[in-house]
Amino acid sequence: NRKETEQTDTASFVVVANRLPVDRVVHDDGSVDWRTSPGGLVTALEPVMRAHDGAWVGWHGAPDETLEPFTDGGLHLVPVELSATEVQEYYEGFSNGTLWPLYHDVVAFPEYHREWWDAYVAVNRRFAERAAAVADQDATVWVQDYQLQLVPQMLRELRPDLRIGFFLHIPFPPTELFLQLPWRRQLVAGLLGADLIGFQLPGGAQNFLRLVRGLLRIETKGDAVRLPDGRVARAQAYPISIDARAFESLAAEPEVETRAKQIREDLGNPRTMFLGVDRLDYTKGIKQRIRAFGELVAEGALDPEEVVFVQVATPSRERVEEYKLLRDEIDRLVGQLNGDLGRIGVPAITYLHTSYPRDEMVALYSAADIMVVTPLRDGMNLVAKEFVACRRDGEGALVLSEFAGAAKELKQAFLVNPYDINGLKSAMTEAASASPADLRRRMKAMRKQVFEHDIDHWANRFMKDLTEE
Ligand code: ADP
Ligand code: G6P
Repeated sequence: NRKETEQTDTASFVVVANRLPVDRVVHDDGSVDWRTSPGGLVTALEPVMRAHDGAWVGWHGAPDETLEPFTDGGLHLVPVELSATEVQEYYEGFSNGTLWPLYHDVVAFPEYHREWWDAYVAVNRRFAERAAAVADQDATVWVQDYQLQLVPQMLRELRPDLRIGFFLHIPFPPTELFLQLPWRRQLVAGLLGADLIGFQLPGGAQNFLRLVRGLLRIETKGDAVRLPDGRVARAQAYPISIDARAFESLAAEPEVETRAKQIREDLGNPRTMFLGVDRLDYTKGIKQRIRAFGELVAEGALDPEEVVFVQVATPSRERVEEYKLLRDEIDRLVGQLNGDLGRIGVPAITYLHTSYPRDEMVALYSAADIMVVTPLRDGMNLVAKEFVACRRDGEGALVLSEFAGAAKELKQAFLVNPYDINGLKSAMTEAASASPADLRRRMKAMRKQVFEHDIDHWANRFMKDLTEE
């Protein structure tokens, strides 16, 4: 056990997120491991927490276990316990069976269950109480993401002295969709407990402000909401990013460069390597991109002797029904395509259902020619930015969905509508046949954007707006 247990006293800066940056994994034989937690929230926030000495309040990923606060690699972590029933009803249920599909354009059907809502309220209260106990007098508390939208209001009631920020990592939906929620007023009021509410895109902030006016009948002026008690809350866009320099310097490590070459060799030194990297989630458009690639090969537009597709998908939310269905569908699709198009020892698609350490991800980004990022809806998509940050060589192409937040910044990508399979095919062939000069020009512009708007830039902008009068 590499964790050092200690009683964390109070902190002047506190982050509250459903997940801690590390996940406690209990194996069948009872042994315990800690793993980096999946997803973009942890990738983005970890460097922020290293820069600001604060406490991170969150769930450690295992049900029915109560742990003491501990430090891990210099981070002060405060675990919040969830019972097995709460994992089902609050995490898998309301967070990922109701809010996640609703906020992502209902690409899957959101379910509304009153027990799930009750669990969401109870768990949000626990997070608020834990944060209230950890925060110094007049501290700054930054609440994260859709799992904890009631925490700002609950925390303000417990601790009116605090400065409270909130950031939503996923899209905030159009009002027409949000209004389906039986608990729509409570959620908007929950968020209004914060002094500053951050969204990935200006559209999200506007959707939220429209609900404040329409649903709660509270006036807004620009980005400001004047609440009945005289307090002002603001709603604004802060597009999140990555520690671009850290990715770039990892890509420059000799071992990573060697590993990138090895990956291409193991794939039979193809002329073109396509790459997809995602959590295995139905919002990511994995089926659409595999189908597009399969058709291109079947029609002879891409030569299977010369091209390969590598798809890496981290297991995610595996007990939620829609994710089980997705996993089966992708298994079937990949099996079918490789059966039809592969040759002995050379599958057309190499599909890896696993998560890798950061250096292996960076080697994959460096080895690829064309990164294919095709979500049907995505708050930001950090994978697209990671790929760009790793391309020190200035080469490589990015095919990017218009429906990822990142498309607003990475305008020189080959932008696609992932629902349009023919358009997706054209973008993939266009990227595969673009001139090196064109690709370099595009990559240069995208790298400038990512390096000038990195995670420090994001955190500093948010913190400045939150802490200034
Ligand atoms: P989301 O937050 O929805 O998962 P993002 O693209 O914003 O989507 O962030 C995903 C994060 O997870 C990135 O930092 C990416 O590097 C990481 N990641 C994705 N797939 C894997 C994998 N197979 N192994 C390790 N890390 C992964
Ligand atoms: C997205 C969400 C995060 C979440 C992550 C991983 O990035 O915005 O809040 O932590 O996915 O999902 P998980 O359900 O495993 O925490």
